[in-house]
Amino acid sequence: MRGLILSGGAGTRLRPITHTSAKQLVPVANKPVLFYGLEAMREAGITEVGLVVGDTRPEIEAAVGDGSRFGLQVTYIPQSAPLGLAHAVLIAEEFLGDSPFVMYLGDNLLKEGITPFVRRFAESAPDALILLQKVADPREYGIAELADGAVKRLVEKPAKPKSDLALVGVYLFTPAVFASVKAIKPSARGELEITDAIQHMIERGLRVEPHIVTGWWKDTGKLEDMLEANRLILGTIERDVRGDVVDSVLEGAVMVAAGSRLERCTVRGPVIIGADCTITDSFIGPYTAISDGVVVEHAEIENSIILDESRISHLNVRMADSLIGKHCVIARSDSRPVAYRFMVGDSSQIGVL
Ligand code: G1P
Repeated sequence: MRGLILSGGAGTRLRPITHTSAKQLVPVANKPVLFYGLEAMREAGITEVGLVVGDTRPEIEAAVGDGSRFGLQVTYIPQSAPLGLAHAVLIAEEFLGDSPFVMYLGDNLLKEGITPFVRRFAESAPDALILLQKVADPREYGIAELADGAVKRLVEKPAKPKSDLALVGVYLFTPAVFASVKAIKPSARGELEITDAIQHMIERGLRVEPHIVTGWWKDTGKLEDMLEANRLILGTIERDVRGDVVDSVLEGAVMVAAGSRLERCTVRGPVIIGADCTITDSFIGPYTAISDGVVVEHAEIENSIILDESRISHLNVRMADSLIGKHCVIARSDSRPVAYRFMVGDSSQIGVL
């Protein structure tokens, strides 16, 4: 079995972070989302992985390399434009050959990884195995209608959904999928949809088996989902303090990497703090992930993700539910006139008091 991980796409719903970074490299609990997918492949016994990449290829390649660090052999498959998930399958045909494969959307996270689904696919040998989970807003996903436990119809982002069962971004296929990705036409959004290709497989009389995913699943394409994924992963960490902790109180599951220094702080886990951070006179609250080289002074932060080398300083109101990019500065200033002073990138969002 081979793996195909999709790591292109513009990440429009995570701007401004994605103006400068691939959405699959935004960290969840201090680890890029994409790495969870790569690790899940290895755990499932898959070693040959094709990584479909777009404009952000250099950055993805710098992070993943040849895959050996994950125990994988990674082949890069360039996609000239984001023409859809089925288009990604189409261009990967040469790499996949006649091997069955798992296709994994690089911004998806699944609690169980993919091992149980790979096993199930091998056991029941359908032409495709699709994973489903109930969602609150089915208009944002590919949706499956089932009848007597079989897949009746699949629709991509229906305006009037007939079911709340969304397609999870992990699919298992035999090479029978290629004829269908070649047969379908682009959707209204101009993309070759994998949802349409699977629907085409059903119409050809092939066996498409549904499987309801019971463990949590997150598509991290939006801020709220990113923060939720961060909470879910942080909920599984254990205490591991390597940095220097001075006159501080650490409660619960707190990870502090080597080279970081905490002074006069209260940290209420689950919290992860990367390497070489300086955190003083602050409160770091539950579900916060702080990347390397961050400075926090006289501030309170909770349920947030702060990326490398940013500085949060002298806030007199707690910061919450935030995603802060790299090298950002959020600081109180005493200079006159008393005013908010911003320099923010395109598509940024700021909530003021
Ligand atoms: C894609 C698929 C959709 C699926 C979703 C899962 O949506 O088109 O069918 O339900 O991934 O993450 P997109 O993230 O491209 O909006």
